[in-house]
Amino acid sequence: MASSTLSPVTSSQLCSGKSAMFCPLSQALRLKPVAKSQSVAGKRKGKGMRITCQASIPADRVPDMGKRKLMNLLLLGAISLPTAAMLVPYATFFAPPGSGGAGGGTIAKDAIGNDVVADVWLKTHGPGDRTLTQGLKGDPTYLVVEKDRTLATYGINAVCTHLGCVVPWNAAENKFICPCHGSQYNDQGRVVRGPAPLSLALAHADVNVDDGKVVFVPWVETDFRTGEDPWWA
Ligand code: FES
Repeated sequence: MASSTLSPVTSSQLCSGKSAMFCPLSQALRLKPVAKSQSVAGKRKGKGMRITCQASIPADRVPDMGKRKLMNLLLLGAISLPTAAMLVPYATFFAPPGSGGAGGGTIAKDAIGNDVVADVWLKTHGPGDRTLTQGLKGDPTYLVVEKDRTLATYGINAVCTHLGCVVPWNAAENKFICPCHGSQYNDQGRVVRGPAPLSLALAHADVNVDDGKVVFVPWVETDFRTGEDPWWA
């Protein structure tokens, strides 16, 4: 019994031939006799025949590879753009805030988030003033106005060295007095009464020569109040 192999032919060959039983399928396939020794399979010899099929798509229906690549690129672009749009804000969330000052410093921000400009600040803050700004790593940091109406070259971190309360300035006492457990610091932030074990941290308060903005820079030198290495550096 003869076996057959399906092979591609043109539609005109199939639709016009006697064996073209199903014209749509036969546009793509054709039964082709092959040698008995190659195709007759064995278990049920004589009771049936085995047909080996070879299917292929007519050349005029094979998708163009150039178009495939173009569609893949368009799909990649369509996915990449929204993904990048989501990832960029997510990544910037973890970046340190407020960077951009000289030497890797942080521009001081006032209570409503505006950059502190030294000249403007000094018009509204008199001698002896200590007002909180946003400093390095977002820490509350006091800007100090000296008696000669200039800005001090240091800022005082307001985070208590005992358990982390924000320490308010008490102008009447001329001290920083922590409301949580009563620790006290002098007007430069040096600890004068516990339980706080250490003085308040310092930061350099520089004025940017280009725009006059106040920039906090990490203080890594000796603590001028104690003559010791800075515990916070
Ligand atoms: S947190 Fe300031 S004294 Fe305890």
